Amino acid sequence: MPQIIFLPNDELCPDGAVVQAEKGESLLDVALKNDIHVEHACEKVCACTTCHMIVREGFDSLEESDELEDDMLDKAWGLEPESRLGCQAIIEDEDLVVEIPKYTVNLVSENH
Ligand code: FES
Repeated sequence: MPQIIFLPNDELCPDGAVVQAEKGESLLDVALKNDIHVEHACEKVCACTTCHMIVREGFDSLEESDELEDDMLDKAWGLEPESRLGCQAIIEDEDLVVEIPKYTVNLVSENH
């Protein structure tokens, strides 16, 4: 069972968290089921950037992002080479270390 380490995030998990995940789960789902309430404004359909996460370790074990995800990520605050959308990043066998960025850009609420 892969182990996921969420690094401390002032608002969402001040002390960080070490959790177990199942292969095939998305990073976002693992965060949510462990009470790390990452925003997911588009309900996980790859149409926002609020679930942006940075995979500090184990990035290469994840299946590559597709074009749609890359297009969305371009709009994310604090984009890094190891950025992923949490709802699109599917966990494989490897352990991961994940950072949840301090800010998100909520396109949905900003546009309305
Ligand atoms: S929840 Fe909107 S892209 Fe992941």
